[in-house]
Amino acid sequence: MEETIQQKKRLYSAVQPTNALTIGNYIGAIRNMVAMQDEYDCFFAVANMHAITVRQVPAQLRQKTLALVALYLACGLDPEKCTIYVQSHVPCHAELAWVLNTFTYVGEMERMTQFKDKSAKHADNINMGLMDYPVLMAADILLYKSDVVPVGIDQRQHLEITRDIAIRFNNIYSPTFVVPEGVYPKVGAKIGDLLDPSKKMSKSAENPAGTIFMDDDKDVIMRKFRRAVTDSDSEVRYDPENKPGVSNLLSIYTAFTGKSIEEAERQFAGVGYGDFKTAVGEAVAAKLIPVQAEQARLLAEKDYLNGILKAGAERAYKVASATLSKVYRKIGFYQL
Ligand code: TRP
Repeated sequence: MEETIQQKKRLYSAVQPTNALTIGNYIGAIRNMVAMQDEYDCFFAVANMHAITVRQVPAQLRQKTLALVALYLACGLDPEKCTIYVQSHVPCHAELAWVLNTFTYVGEMERMTQFKDKSAKHADNINMGLMDYPVLMAADILLYKSDVVPVGIDQRQHLEITRDIAIRFNNIYSPTFVVPEGVYPKVGAKIGDLLDPSKKMSKSAENPAGTIFMDDDKDVIMRKFRRAVTDSDSEVRYDPENKPGVSNLLSIYTAFTGKSIEEAERQFAGVGYGDFKTAVGEAVAAKLIPVQAEQARLLAEKDYLNGILKAGAERAYKVASATLSKVYRKIGFYQL
């Protein structure tokens, strides 16, 4: 049934409701989702099950889950067009992850860059969930027969392993899973830290002054951009090798204005770094401030948000449980 009415390609993405999101997440994931919601049948999850792979404060996890939903909506996701839900509301994620675990090798998981990074960062809590994180992510994606998965470039390895697991399963049984394509943003795929552009802008950076959070107010945004590193040259030119700081600011500017790099270079020809940085800050603030106001308005309407999540979970469950049931049949689980 579900297949016959589905004409649009399916798109899946999810964001963890952990610390405040950065403009790197916005450019890498949320903005793509908004741009694609007309063209695709979209599923967007709040990945709270992924979030607990590092210790969370329960009350904050709850609050951030709702805040992320409000942020999705404030950024322009339309619940009429796409399915917005919370991962833990659909039990199929944990269930399929268990099955996929038996098609995934320990060695593969140990080699994952993010696992190694997070193990180093949380050396006192290298739990099984942290290692299993990519398998849960594969379950997320494969449950919905997702064709495309827009994510930041840091998630590429997880996408690749998802494809590997899907192909592996399909080869052992018969075609069961859709093998998804990762979609990575071209410009600004990897927004760098403002103080150390060689590092990804991250919500968990040592120094938050190099990171613009989605909830930073205008003064904070402007101050952070004023302090961003440039170089001893004075030319606003895109050259990531030799001018990483300036190039990073140009990427951010183009991502927030829709201008091309060439246009931006022309616009800032002969402009000093101080004025350039102010212009980048203004462009980012012009986008973020209205989003923040809308998010606050929505957060005050809890019944409305709950209604969206309930409808989302129901629709997600329909699709996910159909896939899970197919998997259970193929692997020989006796079903009633
Ligand atoms: N791991 C992703 C991140 O940290 C979040 C995520 C969880 C996700 N499940 C997903 C992204 C499925 C895309 C598809 O950004």
